[in-house]
Amino acid sequence: MCGIVGYIGKRQAAPIILDGLAKLEYRGYDSAGMAVFDGEKVNVKKAVGRLKVLEELTHDGATMPGTVGIGHTRWATHGAPSDVNSHPHFNGDKTIMVVHNGIIENYIPLRAKLQKKGYEFVSETDTEVVAQMLDYYYDGNPMETILKVLHRIEGSYALGIMFADHPGELFAARKGSPLVVGQSEDGCFIASDVPAILKYTRTVYFVDEQEVVRLEPDHMHFYTLDEEEIEKQPTTIEWDADAAEKAGYEHFMLKEMYEQPKTVTDTLLPRIKKDTIEIEELGLSDEEIARIRKIHIVACGSAYHAGVTGKYVIEGLARIPVEVDLASEFRYRNPILEEGAMVIVISQSGETADTLAALRESKARGFKVLGIVNVVGSSIAREADNVMYTWAGPEIAVATTKAYSAQLIALYLLAMKFASVKKTIKEEEYKKLLRDLKRLPDQIELLLNNKKNIQHFANRYIGARDIFFIGRGIDYAISLEGSLKLKEISYIHSEAYAAGELKHGTISLIEEGTLVAAVSTQPELYQKTISNMVEVKARGAFVLAVTNEGNKEIEKAADYVIYIPETNPYFANSLAIIPLQLFGYYVAVGRGCDVDKPRNLAKSVTVE
Ligand code: F6R
Repeated sequence: MCGIVGYIGKRQAAPIILDGLAKLEYRGYDSAGMAVFDGEKVNVKKAVGRLKVLEELTHDGATMPGTVGIGHTRWATHGAPSDVNSHPHFNGDKTIMVVHNGIIENYIPLRAKLQKKGYEFVSETDTEVVAQMLDYYYDGNPMETILKVLHRIEGSYALGIMFADHPGELFAARKGSPLVVGQSEDGCFIASDVPAILKYTRTVYFVDEQEVVRLEPDHMHFYTLDEEEIEKQPTTIEWDADAAEKAGYEHFMLKEMYEQPKTVTDTLLPRIKKDTIEIEELGLSDEEIARIRKIHIVACGSAYHAGVTGKYVIEGLARIPVEVDLASEFRYRNPILEEGAMVIVISQSGETADTLAALRESKARGFKVLGIVNVVGSSIAREADNVMYTWAGPEIAVATTKAYSAQLIALYLLAMKFASVKKTIKEEEYKKLLRDLKRLPDQIELLLNNKKNIQHFANRYIGARDIFFIGRGIDYAISLEGSLKLKEISYIHSEAYAAGELKHGTISLIEEGTLVAAVSTQPELYQKTISNMVEVKARGAFVLAVTNEGNKEIEKAADYVIYIPETNPYFANSLAIIPLQLFGYYVAVGRGCDVDKPRNLAKSVTVE
């Protein structure tokens, strides 16, 4: 989604803004722009396409002198990517500048009202309304004017605002879209995500809902929408700026795939104490766990796929019924939450609008929500009653890999914790499961080391039109994620099907040479999946199987087999997904796709 960077201080603003926007490129965007006050007037430059174009246009910021400014990368929602639709937006005489993330839902009536008063609009965006409204209400006092406007707009926003006649101040405001501000000896910063400013400061403040910030070169003041000043505590960012760099890998996605053994270890080991799972953040006593009657898992995209796996594992081990919902469905389907229900939301970014809305909906109905979240201090992390962090570190590639792997671990831990409290598994089984969990990082490493073979295989499919993934039970959940990884970065059409469901329609799409990836890691379902492999093979499919070491029988039905090391079937997803991630990655690389920033996608989806 869109990225915001603002700076006020002793240094030149433009290079800092460009540098910060570059760090936010992973969020996805299709145009960029910035506004800098040069001591007399505000200069604005905008460019469609990559940030590189704006950098060239401004000679890396050198042609835009000044020590206060705001910049933006836009992911088009209202109006196509174009110079006029790019931010910053401004009033008629270019004295008020606005950058915005989110959606102003009532922009149409507001615009009509302003048009009646003679205001002319140049863009199709919702954001321009904010700039023009600020102009309409402006009486020389920026803070009062901003508050008047914020009280009148509906929807979501993270805003950066600059007034030409107050060059010693910058303003930021937030409702529903993430925003941080930071301070260093050289100045103060606004950003939509920490990596944008981490090079300059580790002291950041997460702006809360309906807060406004006034930034001066050496100070920041926080206010409520009623203009009451708030005291806020800074957060010191512990992770390194290097974590957001490629470290010699060709793509962030490859780097992040290689970080999975560490991610899994970091999410797992701190929660195993003396061979017992302890999840302090859970905030539930054993008595409360024993009273859980049902679990609702709510998430989007890959996090939803992790949730689907979670359902099989929790139901299998702890015998608690689990319902998994896409957050965009859950929030509007008037879900039935009954006494004894527990809600778990899963999100890497912690900012996904639908997941956040599902969390709020559950809380409004009086249910406690556990968040499985990666980004510390994100909206979901702050609003959930309890947070179980996945310690994956910053994930930059749009397609998730390491955060997904960490989400699986969090779900396994919950399943085992619940199972041990509910005594649905025996002590011996619990110990064996723990041993298998601890082996996962080394086994993932082993699979990653097989990348050459996968690359070789993937190269055969860079011209494919359709690729199908099939599996049953947990293997179906793995297929969902394998298929998404492939299609989102390679743009090859792909579908995942429950293996037994294929013959109810979709099998008619199988042609001579169509690749079908069959995931078969659940021993009790081997034979069933083999039958489905035979069915597609008989119709011309080339069958790739991903299965456990030792399942030689599958070779009768498969044309190519990838074996994964032995583990408990409940944990097979953590291993089987590795070759599928590599496969998707190498197909996309072979096709020359922009792997880290696939078209039309954004890293954190802050609009519904
Ligand atoms: C796919 C992917 C997305 C996200 C989804 C939810 O590779 O990354 O499908 O999983 O947008 O995002 P979070 O986890 O940030 O809520």
